[in-house]
Amino acid sequence: MDKIIIAIDGHSSCGKSTLAKGLASSLNYTYIDSGAMYRAVTLFFLRQEVKLEDEEQIRQALQHINIRFNAENRTILNGEDVENEIRKMEVSNFVSQVSAVPAVRRAMVRQQQAMGKDKGIVMDGRDIGTVVFPDAELKIFLTADPEKRAQRRFEELLGKGIKASIEEVRQNLSLRDHIDSTREDSPLRQAADATVIDNTHLNREEQLEYALELAHSAGAVSL
Ligand code: DC
Repeated sequence: MDKIIIAIDGHSSCGKSTLAKGLASSLNYTYIDSGAMYRAVTLFFLRQEVKLEDEEQIRQALQHINIRFNAENRTILNGEDVENEIRKMEVSNFVSQVSAVPAVRRAMVRQQQAMGKDKGIVMDGRDIGTVVFPDAELKIFLTADPEKRAQRRFEELLGKGIKASIEEVRQNLSLRDHIDSTREDSPLRQAADATVIDNTHLNREEQLEYALELAHSAGAVSL
């Protein structure tokens, strides 16, 4: 086996995308940010004022949503580059509610599974090892100390020029953790066969090195 599927799950702002991007670039794999897909749906719902209680409106809306990633891994919603928009607090504050809607999950999971059909993919999210790719050759569950996560997300937003206070970021993370872990449809949980990495005290390089060892042991061959 040379190409495998790598599933990375964990709470918000644990550094999943940093690790996933690092692995994808080292192995020459495709990186898919499944959270960006839920964020793009959320942006569409906000713009179109879709009511979460209205199943028919949701069904219709989902038919008009096309999400893809361009060569620079930026999120494209119906032809528009929405990468910056989907990272804003307005979207962050609503995305957990939107991604708890079963019809939304069904639509996204179907697309995610299609993206992985040829393997050679690293996907990060909340239900990748449990629901999207239960047979993934490598499953990683990332965790980190909550305060460290809030600091990292705050600095990331600052770096992108997005305004938010550290307290706002803390509250958003803790609320999303709660909703993501307690929703009925595919809640965030650790797959029984996932390897846990706590990166509170690991730097990027250490984390990547360890994950690459796991990937090679799981059968990945750098292309
Ligand atoms: O990874 P992120 O923080 O950008 O994800 C945004 C939200 O999307 C997160 O709060 C929960 C939801 N999500 C999900 O329900 N399932 C996934 N596979 C990925 C994200």
